[in-house]
Amino acid sequence: MCGIVGYVGPRIAQDFLLEGLRRLEYRGYDSAGTATIDRQCNISITKSVGPIANLSNKISAESNDSGIGIGHTRWATHGAATVKNAHPHLGGDGCLAIAHNGVIENYADLRQQLIEKGYRFVSETDTEVIAHLITEQVRNKIDSDFNGSAHTHDIAIESLKEVMPMLRGTFGLVIIFKYWPDAIFAARLGSPLVIGVGDNEHFIASDASPLAGFTDQIVYLADHQIAVITQGSLEVTHRDQGVIAHDVRTMELDSNQSALGDYEHYMLKEIFEQPESIRNTFRGRLNTDDATPIFGGLNLSPQDLRKTKRIVLTACGTSWHSALVGEYLFEEIANIPVEVEYASELRYRNSPTEADTVLMAITQSGETADTLAALKEMKRKGHATLAICNVVGSSIAQEADGGVYLHAGPEIGVASTKAYTSQCMALAMLALYMGRLRNVSYDAGRRMIQQINAVPEAVEKALQANSQVAEIAQKYQACNNFLYLGRHYNFPTALEGALKLKEISYIHAEGYPSAEMKHGPIALVDENTPSVFVMPNGFIYEKVMSNLEEIKARGGPVIAIAAEGDTRVAEIADDVIYIPEMPEFLQPIVSVIPLQLLSYHIAVLRGCDVDKPRNLAKSVTVE
Ligand code: G6P
Repeated sequence: MCGIVGYVGPRIAQDFLLEGLRRLEYRGYDSAGTATIDRQCNISITKSVGPIANLSNKISAESNDSGIGIGHTRWATHGAATVKNAHPHLGGDGCLAIAHNGVIENYADLRQQLIEKGYRFVSETDTEVIAHLITEQVRNKIDSDFNGSAHTHDIAIESLKEVMPMLRGTFGLVIIFKYWPDAIFAARLGSPLVIGVGDNEHFIASDASPLAGFTDQIVYLADHQIAVITQGSLEVTHRDQGVIAHDVRTMELDSNQSALGDYEHYMLKEIFEQPESIRNTFRGRLNTDDATPIFGGLNLSPQDLRKTKRIVLTACGTSWHSALVGEYLFEEIANIPVEVEYASELRYRNSPTEADTVLMAITQSGETADTLAALKEMKRKGHATLAICNVVGSSIAQEADGGVYLHAGPEIGVASTKAYTSQCMALAMLALYMGRLRNVSYDAGRRMIQQINAVPEAVEKALQANSQVAEIAQKYQACNNFLYLGRHYNFPTALEGALKLKEISYIHAEGYPSAEMKHGPIALVDENTPSVFVMPNGFIYEKVMSNLEEIKARGGPVIAIAAEGDTRVAEIADDVIYIPEMPEFLQPIVSVIPLQLLSYHIAVLRGCDVDKPRNLAKSVTVE
């Protein structure tokens, strides 16, 4: 949520800042801005409302060859999406510019105190409070000829050390000062910052994606750390410990993976990448000789995992839906009781947890604030924690005891698609792994591994329905209410289908277990409320078919997602989208494909901005 970039080196800073902001736009796109320092040591700021393209137009009209600058793309928390509220913000009389990710919870009190001291606020943001607090500290130190070392970076570092404990909440900060035109200062608590070390240049960003193609040498700033970054140096200080050593890691970052290519939208590109992204999730992890998946990073021995009495799966949004799929998987395959908890609830619930409970946090970004907090809370209680995560090196991946990376590649579209199917795949493999430690036979394990291997091809086939789905979308695009219904493994699929439609086309949609629909949602059914039934082959098919008949008896149009060869459903449903027949534990991965396509086409037909739906952000780093 919100994206930060910074650059210091021989390039024109604005070029990198704009490119970086474009790559981070998925984190927020209400407004954007940059701040640079010119040869006269003045800070110059450019801001605009709306997408990065608007900022880019403004910047191209300027001639700004500064080699140092910071930038920000905003998802509004405090204050509307206006130019005044856009970052970077100036502190005091313009001696510093700051960009901030996160939320300062005690900003109202701090703001009042600063107003009483004579500070003027031009924005409604919590960030401007930080700008003035730092200004105040810096001025005090300069006025007192700080330790005889005035105008060195120490003044800024010591000021940050004093301001950081005053702030309650989360922050990732980048700051430039007119006093130190050679340096970017950064500080972190709870909001990630990644520093890229180049050849006589440095980059900083709120995740690694802007650095791809510029450097593969990465330093992750940790909580309570402050960094001073100049063209040729990087120094990291701990708020309470002084200067500390920092690890430089080599990361594989592929800038082409984030390119749109021939697709009109990232969402469509990512939907079509799924055969490959799913394959990448299981590649090298299926051991046919032992009939088990294998994982390199669980950091829990088979002996420890065998003892698991309960699994708690926690997540937000789409990842919460894959957690629901995980519930069926672990219970059916590994015979382990599972609870699925919204991370935002789990973090504050005082639910009794028994020993030998394993917490699994599922997250695409690895940065979702509630998921991180829920994981920390369960870790604090002494439970083993695993992250099922897409972004390598993200905060949740680093915080967990171990985990499974999805390897789905960067997901840019705000509506999650390929990360979801990779999460379902990773959970299916983990369930089989734990099942093989307990009750699943060698023979059954081998069969399931073969079935996993066949998923990419099935997804490929499901994608062939794209043009048929586009026609169906045309037929129903004017409807303002949809029901999505499914049972057992496909109940979460129904929830996910409904969420996809809501997110990107702003149509009201409800996902329900199909039998439960009789307890309320059936009252919504009329000729303008389509019901999407997810009903591939399986033991529950007949029951779902009865629910479908109940809808038809009340005049509701029905779109069915059914297994190839199901002629019966074609006689009753208004439209049928066929998917390949699948073993039930893998069905959610394939049955969601037509639902992703349906929401995509409806959103396009309704003129919605598919990759940047209103009010949403890809990565929610605030509570
Ligand atoms: C936001 C995104 C969703 C995502 C959710 C959880 O709401 O828009 O697509 O599912 O956050 O994100 P995570 O990165 O933890 O999976």
